[in-house]
Parts: sequence; structure tokens; C-alpha cells
Amino acid sequence: MTNTAPAAATAAIERARAERDVTREQLLEFLRIPSVSTKPEHAGDCRAAADWLAGQLLEAGLDGVSVLETGGHPVVYGEWLHAGADAQTVLVYGHYDVQPPEPNEEWTTPPFEPTVRDGAIYARGAADDKGQLWIHVAALRAMLAEGGTLPVNVKLIFEGEEESGSEHLDAFVAREAERLACDVVVVSDTHMLSAERPSIVASLRGMAYCEIEVRGPAYDLHSGTFGGAVRNPAEALVNLLAACKNEEGHITIPGFYDDVIEPTVEERRQMLEIGFDDAEFRRDAGVEKTWGELGWTVYEQIGARPTFEINGMWSGYTGDGAKTVLPGVANAKVSMRLVADQDWDRISASLETYLQDMARDMRGIESVQVTKLHGGRPVLVDTSHPAMQAASRALEQTFGVAPVYTREGGSIPVVATFTTELQAPTVLMGFGLPDDRLHSPNEKFALRQLELGIETSIAFWHEFAATAGA
Ligand code: BES
Ligand code: ZN
Repeated sequence: MTNTAPAAATAAIERARAERDVTREQLLEFLRIPSVSTKPEHAGDCRAAADWLAGQLLEAGLDGVSVLETGGHPVVYGEWLHAGADAQTVLVYGHYDVQPPEPNEEWTTPPFEPTVRDGAIYARGAADDKGQLWIHVAALRAMLAEGGTLPVNVKLIFEGEEESGSEHLDAFVAREAERLACDVVVVSDTHMLSAERPSIVASLRGMAYCEIEVRGPAYDLHSGTFGGAVRNPAEALVNLLAACKNEEGHITIPGFYDDVIEPTVEERRQMLEIGFDDAEFRRDAGVEKTWGELGWTVYEQIGARPTFEINGMWSGYTGDGAKTVLPGVANAKVSMRLVADQDWDRISASLETYLQDMARDMRGIESVQVTKLHGGRPVLVDTSHPAMQAASRALEQTFGVAPVYTREGGSIPVVATFTTELQAPTVLMGFGLPDDRLHSPNEKFALRQLELGIETSIAFWHEFAATAGA
């Protein structure tokens, strides 16, 4: 901390340092709950994670702690509103659900048996997002235990459906807009440029997620008796998907780019100046060469351009050995990352129309069905907001370097909803690192990031309080 930090912040930081072991042990406990939101068999675990978190908020000294129903996995809520009517109010958002851990055999230690090694916690959800939401709970706990007060009013909302598209959250936020009213939202669910280069995310991509089913024969057939004279739906699916992108990485769905706002020359220059490390990116990705839309840098391909990705495909026989079969049905899951001003409903409809038009000319195919699973809007953050400056100062005090603004390729669907329903900007102050392996085997969260994250959070509340009336 620099000597500009108020004494209360310094004291709370000292306490947080003294409590590091407890903070870490509790996080390990949280990580042992397999709260995989997308799998119905884990619904009980999602609720257990919500209950556990609510217990922690109570212990931290928050008021109004409750587990609120959404129609899906519940939301955990807590608040501390004693800073006064004139003080700023901050809403902290995070998610306690996690991605499925598969393939399990690729984990060095089991995904729900968190293990500390090489200065990091390895577990599913370590960085995304249990470890990161825990930063704010630990910071608030230290501050309340130390001084019994906070410089701002705080509300916390932790959801359990982010990794499966936040299906019920938009309606929840709209319904509870009064309870959630705030000046600014803080989210730690992204990563910094590197451990030495703090950053604040200035944009997130949106999402359109669809499932495709191609039907042919009424059931799986002998590939000798029928093969050659019956159209194979797996082959038809491959043809359909292959028609969605060309060799130059350009997406060929008609109208796909209509609403894309192209970055200006100045914005492209700024993106170059970030100093994004392509070699490190290749290492993190485990590839020797990158591949993407021609004419754009790697950083632009992620931060400023939309995508079409096949997430999974299945059809016919995929077990051990050989089975000569002509499948009756073939399926794929696809996600399209969107940038401003693309609309996920429109993009999903464009995909459906395109595939149906092609399918009509495919003799021998019974049906092609496109089902929208979920969507989310892209986000562009107002970086001139005083809360951004406060976050910037807090990061600089803690990490010793001023942060830069980055464009993130991932999505956090509810952020756009906060903007429209609560009229509040979001500070995307994440503490993950690019090699944390989110959604992959061996996800981790560095202990240093956890510890410095807590100190940044404490500094942020004070910095933001100081901007009151600004
Ligand atoms: N924490 C991520 C978002 C993220 C990913 C930030 C990568 C920074 C880098 C978040 O939990 C996530 O994975 N979101 C999903 C949302 C989707 C299911 C709509 C995503 O981006 O795939
Ligand atoms: Zn996340």
C-alpha cells in the first residue's frame, strides 16, 4: 500500500494477511462442493454451495442474508447498508456454479479434491469463480471484523447458473431491481494480463448457444446393407457445419456480420499497444500455431471479432472398437461469441434459417432442428466512470503498476442486464491469470492472486468511497 491509504484500509489489510490460512482453508471447503449447474444430478450440490455461502456471509457480518429462489439454482444475497444514504452503494456479483470437470482422467488431482501445490489451488472452480468471489467475502469479513464498518454500502449477489447461461437471472434482476439498486457493480470473474500486469476488462463478448439435430433413417442401420443408398445424417451435419466458416476463418452465415461495429483505426492502434504476448497465448493454448479470421491480430480475433465454434458433436458409435453402423441421428452443440452490436436472438435465427435452407436441398434428410439453448449480450464498459478510476488506483496500490484496459473474449451474460435494469456500470476487476485453465482439466487459482485480490478489494472500497459526490 502507498501511504495514501486510509488507516482503516491498512488495518483491514493487516487483518486479512493474518487470516490468510483460514481464508484459504474455507475456500478449499467451498471447492469441495461439486456445484456443476448444467447437470441436473448436481442440483442438490448447487443448493449446498448456496447454503454454504450464505452461512459464510452471515459469519462475515452481513445483513439480510438469504438464499432466494429463481426458478433454477438459487441466488445468495447479503447486504451491509450502514454507510449512510449519501454513501456509494456497490453491488458485488459472482457465481458459485462451476463447469463440468470432464475429462476427469486428465486431472492430476481430482477436480473436487482441491490441492495446493506450486503456490496455487487446483480444483474445478478455483478461479472461475469460487476463488474470485471469495476475495470480496474475505475482504468484507476482514473490514467488518477490524473496524465494524465499511466506507460504502455493499450488496452481494452470487448466482448458480452462470456457466449454463444464467437462464433465470435476467428475470430475477428485473424483479428485484429495487433490492439490487446500486451505483456500480463489481465483478471478479475475469483475468489480468499477467501476474505483473494488472488489467481491467473493458469489453466482454456476448453469446448465442444452439444445439443442432439432423435426422435421417428412423433408427441406426447396418452400414453394409444400407450404406451407399441412404443418406448419412452425421455426414449431412458435417457438411452443414463446414458451410458455416470458410478457409479464411470468415463466418459464412448470411447477415452474421451485419451489426458488428468494426474497431476504428485508433482502437486498433490501442489494441496493438496492449502488448499482447502471442507466444504466451500459444503456450497457454497448447498450440504451435494460432488460426483465426484473416486480417486480424490474435488479440483482435478474441477481443473484437465474433466466432462460430463447434463445442461438441455426437452420432453413431463412439465406444471402443469398431461397429459398422449408419446412424439415424447426428447432433452438435455450437456457440457463437458476439461483439457489439450483434443480437443473440437474431444471430440464432440467422443460423437456423441458413441451415434449414441448405437442408431443404439435401435429399434423404428427414429433418434439421436448431434449438436455442441460451444467449447473452456483448458488453462495452464506460471506462470514464469514477468507479473505474477507483479500481485502477486500488490495483496500482496493490500490484505496484497501473492497470490497462483489455478486451475479453469470454462472456458474463448478466453484465448487460445490470446496465439496462439497474442503470449501473460494471467494473470487471478480475484476478485470474491467463494460464488458469478455466473450463479445462487442472483449473487453478494462484494463492498470490487470492491474497492480493483481497487487498485490492479492501483498497477499492476506500478509493470508491473517496469519490462520493464526484
Ligand atoms: N469467467 C468466465 C468468463 C471469462 C472467460 C472471463 C474467460 C475471462 C476469460 C465465465 O464464468 C464463463 O465462462 N462464462 C461463460 C458464459 C456462457 C456460458 C454464456 C462463457 O464465457 O463461456
Ligand atoms: Zn466464471
